[in-house]
Amino acid sequence: MNILILGSGGREHALAWAVKQNPKCDRLIVAPGNAGIAAIAECADLNPEDSTAVVAFASDNAIDFVIIGPEAPLAAGVADDLRAAGFLTFGPSKEAARLEASKGFTKEICDIAGAPTAGYARFDDAEAAKDYIRTQGAPIVVKADGLAAGKGVIVAMDLDTALNAIDDMFGGSFGGAGAEVVIEEFMTGEEASYFVLCDGTSALPIGTAQDHKRVGDGDTGPNTGGMGAYSPAPVLTDDIAQKTMDQIVYPTIKAMADRGTPYQGVLYVGLMIENGQPRLVEYNVRFGDPECQVLMMRLGAQAFDLLLATAEGRLDQVKANWANDHAITVVMASNGYPNAYEKGTVIKGLDSLADDSFNMCFHAGTAEKDGQIIATGGRVLNVTARGDTLQEARDRAYAMVKNVDWPNGFYRTDIGWRAL
Ligand code: AMP
Ligand code: GLY
Repeated sequence: MNILILGSGGREHALAWAVKQNPKCDRLIVAPGNAGIAAIAECADLNPEDSTAVVAFASDNAIDFVIIGPEAPLAAGVADDLRAAGFLTFGPSKEAARLEASKGFTKEICDIAGAPTAGYARFDDAEAAKDYIRTQGAPIVVKADGLAAGKGVIVAMDLDTALNAIDDMFGGSFGGAGAEVVIEEFMTGEEASYFVLCDGTSALPIGTAQDHKRVGDGDTGPNTGGMGAYSPAPVLTDDIAQKTMDQIVYPTIKAMADRGTPYQGVLYVGLMIENGQPRLVEYNVRFGDPECQVLMMRLGAQAFDLLLATAEGRLDQVKANWANDHAITVVMASNGYPNAYEKGTVIKGLDSLADDSFNMCFHAGTAEKDGQIIATGGRVLNVTARGDTLQEARDRAYAMVKNVDWPNGFYRTDIGWRAL
């Protein structure tokens, strides 16, 4: 098969790595890709959000299957346009992608599905939102309704922070994403993520993971896109996983199908777990980045068969074969991230890293220039390893990290601490 993956991050490198190992893959193109992806696939200079260009490219290159990595093309309806043009595509329609693109929509679906989640109210008027916050008190959570690149959520521990967040959001700091806000009850507990493939009617869980959102060791400093992850997440026990499927995932899939917008793709279920009960924090309509890296490391080539079965609507006929293993990924980021950081710095030592089914360095923001690998983004490398235990995987990953010669980069030294 000729396969096209849209995206350019560590998530897409991990997807490409898994797909490439599957004998069904004849030709693999990633658009736009990065320097690491270029070593295993063709990279095409294509904007994943430009539907017309993507459809034309798929036709010109006789693509048999398109896998959409990030949320932006999904929210823009690229999957709809590809399917309308006859291309088998992994990823939800624009309407179904509202599970990530609109926090208010997700709450409506939770209400219909009876899914446990934080209590909430929606506002399109700043004064009414502030009155509500004053009556509820802090801590309280203020969310811009739309996509805001992970920055649209303010967990306010005091009233002033919450009220200022309202001013920021209605003041246009979040563009169109902040024209409506969702104000939520503050939930306590431990967070974990559950990844479930859905083909519109059936669902297949493909793993649990825990991200590390804060930039610094000990979960300190500002939020980032994710500084590391591991799988499985022990807090998401079999019992919690079953409750998540029964109380949250299946009712959501049914609610989406009932309203004529069936959900096809991977559902990233962000959970808060307390006293043996999961509650939904958020849905994302794509794989997590860097959570995808650890899931792909554990699934390997079969991941492709599962994505294909999802797009072909035959998830009820397949199953995921799990080794009793663990995977971890350590993100290496440019100094300064998540604030301003230097671009174009040179990374050395990558050739010396192990590269096999236990050790992989997935690239995120990298490019090749004059024969050297340079950092072009905030999150740059995802050093990923697998082992019989989390400790073994972690030792392997940090051994690789030490061999990366990049004075302009940094990483967290405590990925996996909750589970160890
Ligand atoms: P979201 O983009 O909805 O996942 O929110 C980003 C992060 O904010 C989550 O991963 C949580 O750490 C935190 N968060 C979101 N909603 C709540 C809530 N209702 N209570 C406590 N923390 C929350
Ligand atoms: N790592 C968090 C996310 O992908 O949303």
